[in-house]
Amino acid sequence: MRNLLLCAFLLASFAGAADLTGTWRFEQTSPNGRKRVSTYIFKAEGNKFSGLVATQSEQRDIVNGVIDGNQILFETKFEFDEAGRLTPFKGQLDGDALKISPLRQQPGRPPQEMALKKISNDTTYNPPPELARIHKPFPPFQAIAPNGLAKTPPMGWNSWNKFAGRIDDKAVREIADAMASSGMRDAGYVYVNIDDTWEAERDKDGNIQSNQKFPDMKALADYVHSKGLKIGIYSGPGRKTCAGFEGSYGHEEQDARTWAAWGIDYLKYDWCSASAVYHRDEMAPAYQKMALALRATGRPIIYSLCQYGWLNVGEWGEAAGGNLWRTTGDISDRWDSMSRIGFGQNGREKYAGPGHWNDPDMLEIGNGGMTSTEYRTHMSLWSILAAPLLAGHDVSAMSDDTKDILTNKEVIAIDQDKLGKQGVRVRQDGELELWKKELSDGVAVGLFNRSAAPAQMTVKWSEVGVDKKTPEVRDLWAHKDVDAPGEFSAEVPSHGVVLMRVR
Ligand code: GLA
Repeated sequence: MRNLLLCAFLLASFAGAADLTGTWRFEQTSPNGRKRVSTYIFKAEGNKFSGLVATQSEQRDIVNGVIDGNQILFETKFEFDEAGRLTPFKGQLDGDALKISPLRQQPGRPPQEMALKKISNDTTYNPPPELARIHKPFPPFQAIAPNGLAKTPPMGWNSWNKFAGRIDDKAVREIADAMASSGMRDAGYVYVNIDDTWEAERDKDGNIQSNQKFPDMKALADYVHSKGLKIGIYSGPGRKTCAGFEGSYGHEEQDARTWAAWGIDYLKYDWCSASAVYHRDEMAPAYQKMALALRATGRPIIYSLCQYGWLNVGEWGEAAGGNLWRTTGDISDRWDSMSRIGFGQNGREKYAGPGHWNDPDMLEIGNGGMTSTEYRTHMSLWSILAAPLLAGHDVSAMSDDTKDILTNKEVIAIDQDKLGKQGVRVRQDGELELWKKELSDGVAVGLFNRSAAPAQMTVKWSEVGVDKKTPEVRDLWAHKDVDAPGEFSAEVPSHGVVLMRVR
């Protein structure tokens, strides 16, 4: 009897194995009408299986697959995830139909069941031409010399946080006008950067085109330059950008030449779908490829890497030719997002310096999701971090308060200090944090209160490396000199900061 049962189980397992092996497809149309295809390859041996899943934006290995009758369990592994996290799935097999769903459902979201259809018994992945890896193997990675740009953290504006897909020629011109008339430009914000969604398809010779929102990029660049500003653009090493527009894969040199001819001064190069065409060890070389392409144009172009801090980018971003690199996922206009990112930067200071900066993402100041106190904390923290200061609001409609925060010259001077040192946390008592940034002439000191209530905070000058008993102390938001021999003490508002320069 026992043997019979075992036989039945094994038979069921092997029947499942035979059915599962092959190529499966899942098709989905997103709310914006774009079709997304996922191809699953399963290779079963006995009641175990492995394989891969490929989409337009990535490939993952399928590991730890187990078949039990018509039930399956497996995990997917994303090679760019340093922590090696696996995503578990379960599934049910029914002839040529396979329903799978993630084991960890997103809270508050409807169950995400995917109905896969078997399309062949093939177990090798033959990507369609639009997903084929066409690049040649890269030579061994070698550091390239710095390009001499961004001696202090870049300052300017970027379209994404406020305008996202709605950015167009008219809005960029309005922003440029406002940058000049509001005092933003004169405070140092010189780059006007167009983020994703400007791209159209390529012409018959492979030249990248701008879409109907941007009828003439050269004319727009000339206009921005005429205002005493510089202009930036966006692309990525994959075939598609994050918003699904044309990327630079296979056209790197050609795109760099096009941008240089338009008069572009800054490039943000966003990884996104590059996971579909590159492996882990190709990320640094893929970034370097564009660095070299930009340099070959002869035009000075700041090069911003955007790959969310993956693969410890601080270790190789400068060697790949980057002037700055994102260290995290996207910021949003909320206290929890901004504070998590900002206060999470401690420890990365060793990677920053003149010409090469950590980028904790763009500013949200003036977008309405935080209080003025919180935006002052945002500005203070980014300045202590020697972070790029890229405003992300509608400059043509900003309040005086927003303008005062962004154009506070004494705070900007902390960010732009020529020593180029990223600040560090000195002490943390629960939600109260003391930070300092070494300056060419003194030290910047920030008392940050992340808690929900006001708090009394104290700093002894000896704690931040100041030996003088009675140093010169300046409160950079109150714009006042402070008499504070030995130490300084103040009540700091909830989510607020006292930022000082001490020398
Ligand atoms: C990614 C980047 C963002 C922005 C968008 C555009 O999410 O991290 O900063 O560039 O893509 O699609």
